[in-house]
Amino acid sequence: MNALDTLNTIIRHRRTIKPPSMDAAKPVDRALLISLLENGTWAPTHGVTEPWRFRVYEGDSRASLAKALGDLYRATTPPNEFRDDKLIKLSENALLAPTVVVVWMQRTVGHKVPAIEELEAVACAMQNIMLSAAAVGLGSFWSSPPLIETNAFRQWLGIGAEDQCLGLLYLGWPKDGFEWPKSQRKPVESFVSWA
Ligand SMILES: Cc1cc2nc3c(=O)[nH]c(=O)nc-3n(C[C@H](O)[C@H](O)[C@H](O)COP(=O)(O)O)c2cc1C
Repeated sequence: MNALDTLNTIIRHRRTIKPPSMDAAKPVDRALLISLLENGTWAPTHGVTEPWRFRVYEGDSRASLAKALGDLYRATTPPNEFRDDKLIKLSENALLAPTVVVVWMQRTVGHKVPAIEELEAVACAMQNIMLSAAAVGLGSFWSSPPLIETNAFRQWLGIGAEDQCLGLLYLGWPKDGFEWPKSQRKPVESFVSWA
């Protein structure tokens, strides 16, 4: 298989695998996790500002994350949007995955490039990480609950007003017997026009 065939296979193999399908008791090896995050840092970055930041929750620290997410959901969700199932899911997910990475964009001091471009760079980093995870059979789930946009969340995470969290990246090995999902995309021709 040449490099492009390998890449094609990995890109098509990557799927969203949610925490209930992950084996919480099977940790993600530290060296593997570092190599995934390092692949994230090889994403394109305009002006090489390297705006990605990662905070990793594993083991016992996931309980503090679960509690914080529950508290933040209660504190920031308007009453008419509040849903018990969302609250439970937010709190439980952090304990169902062995590793959770909070990923945010740290706005470059001096604003060398537009904020959107720094966000885009971090989204590229996310994709690098998820593709790398898929390459070794590790499940990943990019979650973006609305609370990540709130000042309360920013304060909890300790990030600046111009920084922006892209989401929570859940990582974990699929449980025994889990069937890796398949997906579909429309034919590429439906998205392309030729000038
Ligand atoms: C920026 C971004 C945010 C996402 N946030 C959520 C989310 O909050 N909840 C969720 O269920 N999926 C979320 N997803 C995952 C998508 O639902 C998923 O990629 C889509 O269903 C396609 O499935 P696939 O990843 O297996 O190809 C997000 C994806 C992206 C790119």
